[in-house]
Amino acid sequence: MTKHNPIICALDTTDVEEARALTASVRNQVGAIKLGLEFFTANGSAGVRKLASENMPIFLDLKFHDIPNTVASAIRATAGINTFMMTVHTSGGRAMLQAAIDASMEVAEQTGKERPLIIGVTVLTSMDQTDLHITGINSDLHDHVRRLADLAQSCRLDGVVCSPYEISLLRQHCGEDFKLIVPGIRPPESAADDQKRVMTPAEALSRGADYLVIGRPITLSDNPGKTAEAICATLA
Ligand code: C5P
Repeated sequence: MTKHNPIICALDTTDVEEARALTASVRNQVGAIKLGLEFFTANGSAGVRKLASENMPIFLDLKFHDIPNTVASAIRATAGINTFMMTVHTSGGRAMLQAAIDASMEVAEQTGKERPLIIGVTVLTSMDQTDLHITGINSDLHDHVRRLADLAQSCRLDGVVCSPYEISLLRQHCGEDFKLIVPGIRPPESAADDQKRVMTPAEALSRGADYLVIGRPITLSDNPGKTAEAICATLA
């Protein structure tokens, strides 16, 4: 995927044909598409392969979190489905994260293509300080995000998913080469839906985001291609 189009369109659907149609309508206006747990659970790797035939870079957002051997095997199993980026939970720990990176290198050897980027999930943005305490973590939420980003970086992960309001903190803390993948993006005047803290695409990019994950503002619009094009225009 090239850096000049940072938009990743989230196709949050279980339906292969709907995902295909959406991909066809936004293919010239976005840099990649994101498939998540619901799509994968409904359609498996065969479904992802069907989308891969559309020749768009695929971000496979399955948020792996298991023992190192299992996560590594799962990542090796993606060799047949050609994804350019995938996610793991950083709270899976050092051994799991290192196993994930090693497995991504094996994928590259096997496919002869670039290594898929391994991106860490820190604290889910659906969790607040109270939720964190309930899981036994008593540090400040932002300190915890920073600590997990440090762990990800020290294990050679390529970057982390973060909320728009963590971009500045993490960009400053982790440097320029650490990729920040940012959901919670809303074009001006677009509905926030269930996202609590949103930011415009232009502002998130100016704060240092590398990729903008945008779903419903594009996929639920009357003309997804035109909407994505209009978003691109605000980034020029
Ligand atoms: O429709 P919307 O633009 O809100 O979609 C955002 C996408 O990013 C969804 O696929 C959602 O699951 C994902 N996501 C998120 N917040 C996170 C991580 C992922 O919204 N912290």
